[in-house]
Amino acid sequence: MERISKTITAYDKNSLAFNDKFIDYPPYQNMISEFINLLKPVTKVLDLGCGPGNVARQLMLAGKNFTLKGIDLSEEMIKLARKNAPAGNFSCEDIRDISFNAESFDAIFLSFCIVHLNHTEVISLLEKVSNYLMREGKLYLSFMEGKKDGFENTSFSKEEIYFFYHSANRVKKILEDNHLSIIELKKQNYPESDGSITTDVFIFAEK
Ligand SMILES: C[S@@+](CC[C@H](N)C(=O)[O-])C[C@H]1O[C@@H](n2cnc3c(N)ncnc32)[C@H](O)[C@@H]1O
Repeated sequence: MERISKTITAYDKNSLAFNDKFIDYPPYQNMISEFINLLKPVTKVLDLGCGPGNVARQLMLAGKNFTLKGIDLSEEMIKLARKNAPAGNFSCEDIRDISFNAESFDAIFLSFCIVHLNHTEVISLLEKVSNYLMREGKLYLSFMEGKKDGFENTSFSKEEIYFFYHSANRVKKILEDNHLSIIELKKQNYPESDGSITTDVFIFAEK
């Protein structure tokens, strides 16, 4: 499928630039750290579309006692994640094809990865995510809203990447349909390099 293969090639080629820009990006770091504070002292985590391993790195820096499975389709991102967060267990797979036992994780992170999935794929992934979470397990979900889907240039990639913009209300409905209740929903403006503004949405939810 062209949108996926072009997108993953762009992430492979620009993984270092993405890492330099986002590994310590304060607005995202703060949001992740707020969520980490909700987790139990010993926690089993799944990080889907883990990129260069920001979540595992933050869990390490926060001194959490955790095991983490991180999945990304970009080989180069997985290499960076293994360097940035040696405590994690990372593998190169498509998040649309994952399969785990029910109630395997205390926390699941979907940090800006559904931005590469269409609406049907998001429904199917969130159904699985709900099944993989233990009772009272927590979900961290971030994505963007407000623009038109399609290939775009980004500040960190010379090659175009395909982005989907999901509506917060529609995503909220999918979560509620899957027994996930919203703990917190926040929106934050993100200034793009071309001067436009994108709205970032952050949802903390609980099973
Ligand atoms: C915007 S980055 C987010 C990375 C990281 N979670 C973060 O918050 O910085 C999106 C990531 O999703 C990965 N990705 C896109 N489509 C994927 C798919 N179908 N399966 C697995 N990973 C995918 C990309 O390779 C990229 O690393």
